[in-house]
Amino acid sequence: MFLINVTHHSLSQISEKFHFQKNASSYEEDAGATSTRLAAAALSYLPLRSYSSSSHILDSAAGPGIVTKLLLSPSPADVSVPELPVSPRPRVTGIDLVPAMVEHFKANKASLNWTTADAYVQDSEDLSRFKDAEFDAVVMNLGIFNLRDPVAGAAEMYRVLKPGGYAVITTWKTRRVVEILQGALDAIRPNSWLKPMYMPPEWLTKEKPSSVMEAGGFHKDQIETFEAEPNWECGSEEGIVKALNSPLWTSKIFEGWSHEEIGRWNGEIRKQLRDTEKKTGTLEMSAWICVARKG
Ligand SMILES: C[S@@+](CC[C@H](N)C(=O)[O-])C[C@H]1O[C@@H](n2cnc3c(N)ncnc32)[C@H](O)[C@@H]1O
Repeated sequence: MFLINVTHHSLSQISEKFHFQKNASSYEEDAGATSTRLAAAALSYLPLRSYSSSSHILDSAAGPGIVTKLLLSPSPADVSVPELPVSPRPRVTGIDLVPAMVEHFKANKASLNWTTADAYVQDSEDLSRFKDAEFDAVVMNLGIFNLRDPVAGAAEMYRVLKPGGYAVITTWKTRRVVEILQGALDAIRPNSWLKPMYMPPEWLTKEKPSSVMEAGGFHKDQIETFEAEPNWECGSEEGIVKALNSPLWTSKIFEGWSHEEIGRWNGEIRKQLRDTEKKTGTLEMSAWICVARKG
């Protein structure tokens, strides 16, 4: 049983890696606004005013650098954390397991002139390229649940933090987007085994992130969990339908589908939508933000 679980998890990690490699270019465009709002909420729990050019922050499982962008570039209009971007600019290191994501990070670095940022292909579970007590903060937005061994990842965060430094991790609480994708998929292919954007249900609980941080070495009294509602803002019903057509979601779902099945997708997405969602163009997405301080 244990062996089967390990094998299953390794396979799902490989498939997750392949998914992000294939869809790296649409990630920022299609999921970036929501993950940016969540990242901003997470960053607001850090002592941003205390950071300076001598501070070093790790953007772990960085993707194209959603967290780095908030730290170093002017925020989008829907983000209002007055201490962002951090000034003077701190040093920021981004790591991601997926080379295509690191390439996007580097493209953002070049186009947005992030002179204090660097990025590497690196598993967030293995921070051996960094010294003990290297970082003032480690931020892992929507990444911890992808790790093969999240406790090992938390232990590494603890090791590379300076005493008094903070680790912030986020995970989802509710994901309306996923319910809608699943509903449309089930309507078209009732016997499909596919679970779009699957996350083990325990990762949706408030307890999971804090228990992982505690098991990684952070003291229970130094861990707090907060809630955020970054939502998916698509502007209109049409905006939602268009967003849920992104290859970020559909590339896996449409594999092996006929033209007729693909042709039904938009209609089935519409049928899933509640009246308020059609009216507002907003899908509710809520998340947990777990903040842990190295004592
Ligand atoms: C949902 S995205 C989050 C990206 C970004 N942090 C954000 O704020 O939007 C998850 C990211 O984790 C990366 N990832 C998955 N497994 C990883 C691992 N073991 N180590 C490092 N990065 C990983 C993926 O390539 C992807 O870029």
